[in-house]
Amino acid sequence: MPGLVSCPGGLIVIGILTLFFVHINSEIWSNEVSDIQFGSLGSNVTLICGGVQHGSLVHWRQNGSSVRFRQPHTSSSTLVLLNTTHSMEGNYSCHNQRGVLLQTIRLRLGYPPGYLGVSCQVPNHFKIQCSWTQRVTTYLPTKYIASYSMNDERPQPCEQELIDVNKCTISNPEFWKPKYLVNITEVNPLGSNSTITFVDLAKTLKPDAPDAVTCVEVNGKPTQLLVQWDLPKSWPANPAAFPLKFEVQYRPVGSNLWSKLETEITGAMIMDALVGHLHHIRVRAQDAFINHSQWSEWSQVVQARPWSDPSLNTEETTEEFYESPIFPSTFPVKATEKSPDSSFDENGSMSLLIALGLFAAVMVAVVSAITILLWVRNRRRDNVTKQELTSMVKMKSLPI
Ligand SMILES: *[C@@H]1O[C@H](CO)[C@@H](O)[C@H](O)[C@H]1NC(C)=O
Ligand SMILES: *[C@@H]1O[C@H](CO)[C@@H](O)[C@H](O)[C@H]1NC(C)=O
Ligand SMILES: *[C@@H]1O[C@H](CO)[C@@H](O)[C@H](O)[C@H]1NC(C)=O
Ligand SMILES: *[C@@H]1O[C@H](CO)[C@@H](O)[C@H](O)[C@H]1NC(C)=O
Repeated sequence: MPGLVSCPGGLIVIGILTLFFVHINSEIWSNEVSDIQFGSLGSNVTLICGGVQHGSLVHWRQNGSSVRFRQPHTSSSTLVLLNTTHSMEGNYSCHNQRGVLLQTIRLRLGYPPGYLGVSCQVPNHFKIQCSWTQRVTTYLPTKYIASYSMNDERPQPCEQELIDVNKCTISNPEFWKPKYLVNITEVNPLGSNSTITFVDLAKTLKPDAPDAVTCVEVNGKPTQLLVQWDLPKSWPANPAAFPLKFEVQYRPVGSNLWSKLETEITGAMIMDALVGHLHHIRVRAQDAFINHSQWSEWSQVVQARPWSDPSLNTEETTEEFYESPIFPSTFPVKATEKSPDSSFDENGSMSLLIALGLFAAVMVAVVSAITILLWVRNRRRDNVTKQELTSMVKMKSLPI
């Protein structure tokens, strides 16, 4: 008879579990000793004085004073509140003819759950985060059941870390099953309502903005600025597996037009900064593979001024400096602990070489053009002189 022996143990466990759940349940809805009753605002609510023989007269009090509402049935043990408003909330007590307290009922009024405003973010490949707000203020204690499913599979819980924060997280979503159905069900004493949201992972994927953007001058280069940044904090640390692309935008302070650069590494060299001018620089990120994913928000705007030759006489530069006298010539000089990417160095010196090459080519072209022009002019002049000489000679040789 092992069944009989184990039975009491099992019963005790079930008993404890039941107590536990009953306790939790009552704690969610009420935390005081008196009975609590919930009603719908605007509806008719009936309060019943328990433990009274039917038909016997009772006297009702609200918040300790006699009830002021007109009652349709004064002679019974029930109190009917018509078209309830917030002022009808509070503590009701019923008393018998001798004034003895029979029961206390706490009345709370509100609305059943409505639809929720749900929004979901996908800040990286490992996380969907959904948050929600009530569209209808219910005035009542509320809890939420958050779940998700895909392709009609069994729903899984969407994990809520803090019960009071309307937010839940789906970890390690499967990107190859891109359609997620998120179900947030609001439950309160007057009912429940589910709000269903579809999440298309690829379209919703939106990295956080790049972090720790810095921009510094390049020594000896009056048109260059070196911009560097970190991956968004929430992005996986191995960018080889989850590459991002970045857009850098920059403009001289006061200009409306942004120039832009695209790169897949966490740094860029601006080659065409305006000499002597303070610039604004900002960066954003997008998944490099999923083209219809979203660009991040822009990073913080940082400012920097390209290097200028300190030995130049002030006349040339004063004009620039007077435009924005508040800013120091280099800005910001926040040092980055990160050493620049090696591929970035290559890229930087490559573009530098190209720029130098182009510059040299242009110079050669200009110099040759000038030389040719001079040569042609000289030749013409030579011809003229020769002609003049010959004619002079001819004149001289003419017999007088
Ligand atoms: C409340 O009761 C009054 C009187 O009995 C009735 O006229 C009214 O329609 C009721 N209101 C609601 C919302 O049921
Ligand atoms: C109603 O009763 C609860 C406890 O039962 C108490 O905390 C609360 O202050 C009371 N409210 C009023 C308005 O008397
Ligand atoms: C009774 O107390 C509740 C708050 O507990 C308040 O909302 C309500 O207006 C009070 N009503 C009266 C008539 O005092
Ligand atoms: C949403 O979740 C609630 C609570 O788990 C459940 O009762 C309801 O059926 C779900 N709705 C859908 C459409 O899956």
